[in-house]
Amino acid sequence: MTDKECELTYKGKAAGDKVLSTRPKPLVTLKSVRIDAPWRNLLISGDNLGALATLLEMKRAGTLKCADKTSGVRLVYIDPPFSTRLEFKAKKNQKAYDDKLGGAEFIESLRKRLILLRELLTEDGSIYVHLDWKKAHYIKVIMDEVFGEENFLNDIIWSYGGRGAKHISGQFSRNHDIILWYKKGASHVFNQLTIGKRVPKKGGGFKQDDEGRWFKTSPKGDYTDESMKALAKQGRVYTTRTGVMRVKYFLKDEGEYLIEDKLVGDVWDDIPDAMHLSESEKTGYPTQKPEALLERVIRASSEAGDIVLDCFSGAGTTLAVAEKLGRRWVGIDSGSLAIHTTEVRLLTIAASKSLDEPKKKYAKPCRPFDILGELEHDHAGCAGQKTAPKVKCSYDVDESSGECVVRIERFTSPGSGLKDMEALSSVAVDLNFDGEAMKIDLFATKEELEKNGFEFRFPVKAVKGEVLLAFADIFGNEKWFVGELA
Ligand SMILES: C[S@@+](CC[C@H](N)C(=O)[O-])C[C@H]1O[C@@H](n2cnc3c(N)ncnc32)[C@H](O)[C@@H]1O
Repeated sequence: MTDKECELTYKGKAAGDKVLSTRPKPLVTLKSVRIDAPWRNLLISGDNLGALATLLEMKRAGTLKCADKTSGVRLVYIDPPFSTRLEFKAKKNQKAYDDKLGGAEFIESLRKRLILLRELLTEDGSIYVHLDWKKAHYIKVIMDEVFGEENFLNDIIWSYGGRGAKHISGQFSRNHDIILWYKKGASHVFNQLTIGKRVPKKGGGFKQDDEGRWFKTSPKGDYTDESMKALAKQGRVYTTRTGVMRVKYFLKDEGEYLIEDKLVGDVWDDIPDAMHLSESEKTGYPTQKPEALLERVIRASSEAGDIVLDCFSGAGTTLAVAEKLGRRWVGIDSGSLAIHTTEVRLLTIAASKSLDEPKKKYAKPCRPFDILGELEHDHAGCAGQKTAPKVKCSYDVDESSGECVVRIERFTSPGSGLKDMEALSSVAVDLNFDGEAMKIDLFATKEELEKNGFEFRFPVKAVKGEVLLAFADIFGNEKWFVGELA
């Protein structure tokens, strides 16, 4: 027993300082988006324990900084496996990841990551840990140990809706997840959020002022006399017939309804589960979380330019939302399907929904990011993968347009049982390969390739040396071709 008042004891619990001396994992750059920028977002392929130790080295060396120069990560969100003992597969039956750890092994595995994550946070940073009924209560005790009970901010209930709830005989349906939110130090970044709720005008006790504006009132609460004077100047104080001063809140007028801004509480029941995502948001990766959920977390606990870290990043939901909200981001996942799904998602982000104006598309292509990993390329099957797809392609130069036209003639993934072209996912092109990391100059998804008869083009003039073509299958395996244009 340590000197702590209470703690969770189990077999194999390592000393905290031993965890902090976890050996950093040497990482090489496997791929990059070819745009120069002082800060590059990072997608790390591999087990997160060693990768977190590497990030900690970067923090100590001053190379992991938010845009305002604060060292470290302002916000961590993690959605680790929930100890379901299941194997997760993606939409086309591709293996995504195993969730086989249970008991003390699960708790200790997560605790080690939490100890490193705490170190990575800025002093005013915070962490959200997304779990469910199976292990959240054990991890709450571990979080109290690692972060301190006094730093526990909220036990958020994500009630994802009755539609997703399965009937379980003899007990209530389970239809919520638990998100534990902790801060690191004395103060933390927090932006209070509100949700606009539509309420009928009639019967809600709403009033109208002389200018026809609708309002509701609430007691003065902890407003000081000074603040009440300031509110009075803005026309926001209402005096009742008995002389009691109340604060006015104006409401948006929508015909028979009013839009009432309600503070977001700790029960989030307005975000449906991932089964109800729009087609454009679905990636096919299992256990993908809704962007709306991550939008709430990121808006509440970070500012533009802050680093957001997710070390169980899966389909890259946290990273995509961080990108759309102008945050810096770092993602880690040990699965090649997760890394590939995230790569495609970020490279095609310009075609996705804008979070600020939902009816519009996101305005920008993504900012530069690097994909880091442990393995050296063998330039035949990327990153030493044993099951690289088999690709037959040919190319011609179209003299009239000055373009090189590459045609994919056959594409199969050995052992998948899928027919020609069925396993194709995307093509990335580096027009000036330096023999080291791939720099992505062009990228096309299968849908785009299919529209063009499985052809893609690039200007011959843009080719400076060797061209690298990387063909990816739906399992996240790649085949690389390197050569000069004849
Ligand atoms: C529940 S999923 C995350 C889903 C994600 N939030 C999303 O919206 O797509 C958990 C992820 O953790 C990854 N993972 C599990 N153990 C890991 C480890 N030790 N290191 C890195 N990633 C790991 C799995 O590959 C899986 O993609």
